[in-house]
Amino acid sequence: MNEQFLQDVKAGLSASPKSLSSQYFYDQQGDVLFQKIMDMEEYYLTDCEFEILSTYKDELLDQFTSSCDGFHLIEFGAGDAYKTKILISFFLSRKVQFEYNPIDISENAVQKLVQDLRREYPELKLLPVNKEYFSAVEEISHHDTCKKVILFLGSNIGNFSMDGAEDFFTRLGSELESGDQALIGFDLMKDPETILMAYNDSAGITAEFNLNLLRRINREFEADFDPGAFYHRPEYNSDTGAAKSFLVSRKDQKVEIGAIPMKVSFNEAESIFMEISQKYKTGDVHRFAENAGFRVKKDYFDKRKYFLNSLWEKK
Ligand code: AVJ
Repeated sequence: MNEQFLQDVKAGLSASPKSLSSQYFYDQQGDVLFQKIMDMEEYYLTDCEFEILSTYKDELLDQFTSSCDGFHLIEFGAGDAYKTKILISFFLSRKVQFEYNPIDISENAVQKLVQDLRREYPELKLLPVNKEYFSAVEEISHHDTCKKVILFLGSNIGNFSMDGAEDFFTRLGSELESGDQALIGFDLMKDPETILMAYNDSAGITAEFNLNLLRRINREFEADFDPGAFYHRPEYNSDTGAAKSFLVSRKDQKVEIGAIPMKVSFNEAESIFMEISQKYKTGDVHRFAENAGFRVKKDYFDKRKYFLNSLWEKK
C-alpha cells in the first residue's frame, strides 16, 4: 500500500475546503485516460508542443550540443514520451552521443515506456531512474560528469501554484551545474474559452479522469465513493491564469474509507479541489529562470503562440 498517498487522502479530505492531489491521477487507468485527453480535439497543448519540437528539432540539437558533444537527456514526467520521440529519433538519425533518462511518477508508465523504446530504438542508450525527480538528477550526476539537458514538457509545471513552481525551479537550479540546460513547456494565457474547453471536453473524458481518482481510492483503500454522486466542474480565472478543477457532491452524503478508517461527510454542492493547471505569461517564465539562476537561451513558440518551450542554461 502507498502510505504517502493514504496520508495525503486523509489530510485532504479532513481539510476545509476538501482537496485531493492530482499527482495521484496516474494509476494504470489514469494513464489510459490521460492518453485519451492528449488525443482530444479540445486539448490543444499536446499539438502545440508537438509542432514546436518538430519545427525546431535541428536547432534544439545544436543548442543541446553547444557546450559538449554528448549529454544526458533527462525527462521529468516522461509518460509515453510521445513528443520526446521526435527528438529521440532525430538525434539517433544524426548519430548523436546521448543517454535518455526518463523519470515519471507513474511506475507503470515508465515500465511500458522502456519496453516500447527498446523495441522501437534498439540502439538508444536508455537508463530509467526510478526516483523522485531531484534525487534522480543527483544520482545521474554521481556516476557521470557529462552535461545534462532536463526536459519538463507538457506544462506539467502547471500542476504547481506559482509559488510552488518558483520553489521547484530554484531547486532545479541548485541541482544543476553551470552549462547544463533545461527545456520547459509552459501553456500560455490565451482566450479563456479555449482554455476552459481543454478541461471541459464534450465527451466527458476529463470528468472521467478526475472521477478515476475516487475510483482509485475505492480500489486501493477500501472506500465506497459513488462516482455518480459527484460531477466535474472546471473553472478558469483569466486574471491569475489559474485553471482549476473540482468534483462537486450532488447531494448530502457520507463516504467510508476503510483503510484509514474514516467517514467523510459531504454537503450537497460541496466541492473537492482536484487540480490546478496554471497558465503563464512569457514574463512569468523569464522571472522563474532568472530567480533560479538560469539564463534564457531562447523561447520557442507554436504558430498560434498558445504554448512556449523555453530553453534555459544554468549560469
Ligand atoms: C499533465 C498536468 C499538463 O494540467 O493540462 C489534463 C493534466 N488535467 N486534463 C494539465 C490534465 C486535465 C495536464 N498536465
